[in-house]
Amino acid sequence: MKKAQRTIRSPLFYVGDKYKLMPQLKNLFPQNIKTFYDVFCGGGSASLNIVAESYVLNDINDKIIELHQFLQEQANDIEQFIESMHKLINKYGLSLSEIGKNNEIENLKKVHIKTYFSKYNKEPYMNLRTDYNKNQSKTELLYLLLIYGFNHMIRFNAQGQFNLPVGNVDWNKNVSAALRNYASWIAHNTVKLSKGLDFEAFVLSQTYKKGDFIYFDPPYLITFSDYNKLWNEAEEYRLYALLDKLSDNGIYWGLSNMLYHKEKTNTILKHWAEKYIKYDIDSNYISRFDNSIKKQSKELFVTNYNR
Ligand SMILES: C[S@@+](CC[C@H](N)C(=O)[O-])C[C@H]1O[C@@H](n2cnc3c(N)ncnc32)[C@H](O)[C@@H]1O
Repeated sequence: MKKAQRTIRSPLFYVGDKYKLMPQLKNLFPQNIKTFYDVFCGGGSASLNIVAESYVLNDINDKIIELHQFLQEQANDIEQFIESMHKLINKYGLSLSEIGKNNEIENLKKVHIKTYFSKYNKEPYMNLRTDYNKNQSKTELLYLLLIYGFNHMIRFNAQGQFNLPVGNVDWNKNVSAALRNYASWIAHNTVKLSKGLDFEAFVLSQTYKKGDFIYFDPPYLITFSDYNKLWNEAEEYRLYALLDKLSDNGIYWGLSNMLYHKEKTNTILKHWAEKYIKYDIDSNYISRFDNSIKKQSKELFVTNYNR
């Protein structure tokens, strides 16, 4: 029997990542993938957990690509990188729970039950943000902002300034563990990054061979998140037209998407997916153990590949 592999967390801790769904999804992907194309890669959770001979990651957000590039460069000596980040954290006076308890935070915990880290880190975080906005070539500062920022998000205003507030999070042992896993994945695999293209331009710019697989994890039309602002019905139709075209050319792909969420149904997806193979993905982690809670959403994996 094959040993069950644990799921690897991306060090970008990306909102809407596929980390929790990977145990289900990876069984639905083909085996013996040559090149795995991760078209809407975000934090890269899918690539990190799928076995393939090589990987190509793309996302329209060039800051995401910059962060992957930066972390790949650090992968040569990840311990040195973690050490240098600890020094930077101390320089700014941010909390660092990886190295142990801090009395001031323990006292804050008693009063501010859900916001103790953000209370402690607010001022140093704002200094860090100001420094990064003065010189955005310092990607290590962007990575630190991502770790200490609200929900680990990456958000810039229309003027190109990073504008996310501090979050109730800090650098704990999970951050270093995720960095080590990512570095090990880079060391053992061939991973290429795109220049941060729109999905259609990216897919049409690649040459496919037998055994390649393209994975699509677009923003969901019917849920809310910051990157969903880029998505609308026209984008949804454009994506499905591309998937049809790939199918006509015998290229295999898989798509993750949300069929319904609360009162909303993605009817475009519902009708279009009829002609392909569909798998239900269980994303109701809490309600699974309590039948009295009505299932509020349904995720699908749609593919043109017959396992
Ligand atoms: C659901 S997230 C992907 C999450 C990712 N699979 C993970 O596990 O971390 C969707 C991603 O699509 C990207 N995106 C939005 N519009 C895009 C477009 N037109 N072309 C390519 N990527 C796009 C967003 O920046 C976001 O990172």
